[in-house]
Formats: sequence, structure tokens, C-alpha cells
Amino acid sequence: MRISDYSEAEKPLKNICAFVVDRDSEQILNNCFAQLEMPQTEIVRGDVATAVSRYKNQPSPSLLIVDISRSEMPLSDMDNLAKVCSPGVQVIAIGGEDSVALYRSLLNCGVSDYLVKPVPRALLQSTLKALHTGETMRSATTGKLVTLMGATGGVGGTSILCALSDILSREEGRKVMLIDPDTIQGDVALHFGVAAGQGFSSLLKSPERLDTLVLDRVAQPVSSRLDLLCSQDDIGTDNTWPDDSLPALIGTLRSRYHYIFVDMPGQITNGLLSLLEQSDICLIVLEPSLSGLRNTKNLLKRMEKSNAGTRAICILNNSRPALQSGLSSARIEAFLKRRPDYVLPYDGRHFCAASLKGEPVSRSGGKAAALLREIACDLAGQSVEPKPSLLKSSLKILRG
Ligand SMILES: Nc1ncnc2c1ncn2[C@@H]1O[C@H](COP(=O)(O)OP(=O)(O)O)[C@@H](O)[C@H]1O
Ligand SMILES: [Mg+2]
Repeated sequence: MRISDYSEAEKPLKNICAFVVDRDSEQILNNCFAQLEMPQTEIVRGDVATAVSRYKNQPSPSLLIVDISRSEMPLSDMDNLAKVCSPGVQVIAIGGEDSVALYRSLLNCGVSDYLVKPVPRALLQSTLKALHTGETMRSATTGKLVTLMGATGGVGGTSILCALSDILSREEGRKVMLIDPDTIQGDVALHFGVAAGQGFSSLLKSPERLDTLVLDRVAQPVSSRLDLLCSQDDIGTDNTWPDDSLPALIGTLRSRYHYIFVDMPGQITNGLLSLLEQSDICLIVLEPSLSGLRNTKNLLKRMEKSNAGTRAICILNNSRPALQSGLSSARIEAFLKRRPDYVLPYDGRHFCAASLKGEPVSRSGGKAAALLREIACDLAGQSVEPKPSLLKSSLKILRG
């Protein structure tokens, strides 16, 4: 029997029992339970086998958290656990192996989530909160669509989106799909040091083939929580696809990822425009130039007109050291009729180092990376007070 064969879980959670093998995980769980004021909770030193022997003879709680890091055969152990548990139990597995294959197999056998140690606090808390307040795991994983538009070319859009994907997936434990619809010149894969495949562009051209199995084959995992959809076609290849391809794809992805990020190409087709209007958040990246301001204003106007409720976040990125546009922050604000939400300083050293290593700039440190962490928190709905000193220094850069 699979765990998912049981009926719906009890809502809200009545009681939780965790079986963990180490002190660190025990402490993290203790903190999470205390912060969320969970009802009856218990933490036991033990593993799946301990849980199996306990629930052979007594009713299981509404949520079980089990440590599989010492399991030699985690899937068969989870199956044994399902056999002894009451109907309605939800299971979260924690373990040491950061593997996409294991993650997928565990989800397939009905586990609600798999967290890699050290247990990511924020993710565990949001999962527990969702379960406790009666949201199903499905709704907990109904993904946000975040599109990124560069107001002009070379403004740092792809670098920013890749860094945000990296922070949310690797540091915050969210499941992220990053899509690069530019199948000829897109460079998302390069930011992660991987080669793009071919499957995605043919999937876009034949959306009738779209199902979860095809998606599993085409998506390229770059870590256990971050997948890419991108292709590398030759110059001259027909890279047009039906307008409804991407929206249909996003519909399928929303139930499987916390975030779906799309690096929007400069040329906005009708299909891409409808994607823009479906987004929960649109990140507009601009530099302090006249064309950057004009294009940003037009985008904001379009979004306002469509009245789709998309939240626009304007990121003023100083991606070039020599750009002395003379545009003061006051003029920028007056023209846009809003203040940029974030101002990224020029940080040639860290951006260059990251691109040479084929990894996102979030891993290289520096001031811009710190600010990108604030933007990631904003996307995740956590408020972070901007550091006044950094904001000031960024505005100083602008003023020249
Ligand atoms: N804040 C920044 N400081 C220094 N270099 C940056 C910054 N933002 C972006 N860059 C650099 O600008 C170049 C263009 O970035 P990219 O992300 O490819 O832009 P886009 O996707 O908008 O065309 C890259 O070399 C990148 O490393
Ligand atoms: Mg780009």
C-alpha cells in the first residue's frame, strides 16, 4: 500500500511525532514546533524502523516526520511505514542525500515532502503551517509565476533571475522551475554551468505532447530543488511556437513547484504577453538610462491597463560602471511615478567571478548578492527591512 492511498489527512493537524537520529535536527524541529504553537508534538530519537515498531501497536499521529538518513532502502522502509499507519497520516521525510531521483521517488510513494539536512527551517515552518491550518500539500505547492523583463538588453536580468532561483531553491528549500523561452540565444543554462538540451523547444512546438512524464524527461535538474527548461537550437532554426504553449505548461507546473521563473525574451510575442499578464509578480530590471526608463514606463502602463493584478517589482541595476546618465534618483522617481523597489550597486568583481565559474552571483558574496537575498525574501512573502547604508550607497552611485 502506498501512503497516498490513504484518504485525506486530518485537518487541522491534531498531533505530530518526529523520529530523528541526530541532535541538530531535534533542535530545529523543537524550535519550529515552539514558534508555530503546534498542538501535541513529540520528538523521538529513532528512525523509520523505530516508527514502524511503535505504530504496529498504537494509532499513528496526523503528521509523521521521519529521518531516513540511515535507511539503506528508504522506499521500502516508507512502504513498511505506510502499512502500519492509520489512514489520513501525512509524512514528511528528512534525510542526508540531496538527490532529485530520491525526492521524486518519495513523492511518488505518497510522502508530502522530502527535506535535506540540515532541515531548512523556513520551508519546514511553511509546510507545517499549511498543514496545520488545513491547506492541503497541493495548495501549499501551488506555484507563483514570476516573470522577469529586462527594460533594455544586457541590463542584468538573467543574472538576477538565476541568482534568485538559486537562493530560493538552495538556501530556502523551495522547489523552483526556471524557464528560458529563448531557445537560440538564451543563456540561463550557462549561469549554472550546464549545457542546454533540445527537448524543451520541441515540446513548445507540440504542446499536445505535454504531460508530466514528458516534462520529467525534458526538465534538467541542476539541484534537487531547481529544474531548468531550456534548449540550445542552431541559429536559423524556426523558434516560433503556438501562443498557448507556455501558458499551458505553466498551468501544469504550478501544482509541482513553489516558483516558476521565466526569463522573458526582449521580443514580446502575444503568447509572452499573456504570460506576463498571468504572472503573480513581474520583475522589471532597468538601468538608469533614458531608454531604460521609457521602456519601464511603457511596461508598467501595459500592466496597469491589463488590470490583471500582477505585482510589478522595479529593480534598478547598475550593471555597467561607466554609465553616467546624469539621472538622479529624484528624476527617475518623477518619471516613473514610483520609486524603484530595489537598487543594485555595480559589483563587477563578484558578477565577473560568478560568470567565469558558471554559477549564479548569489554564491559569490558581495553587496549585490546581499540585496538579491532581500528580493528573494520579498518574493517569498517575508519582509526584510532594507539596510539604510546600502540603499544610501546605491543611490550615491546613481547620483554619480
Ligand atoms: N550589478 C552588476 N554589477 C556588475 N555587473 C553586472 C551587474 N548586473 C549584471 N552585470 C553583468 O552584466 C552583464 C549582462 O548581464 P545579463 O544578466 O546577461 O543581462 P541580460 O539578461 O539583461 O541581458 C553580465 O556580464 C553580468 O555579469
Ligand atoms: Mg539575458
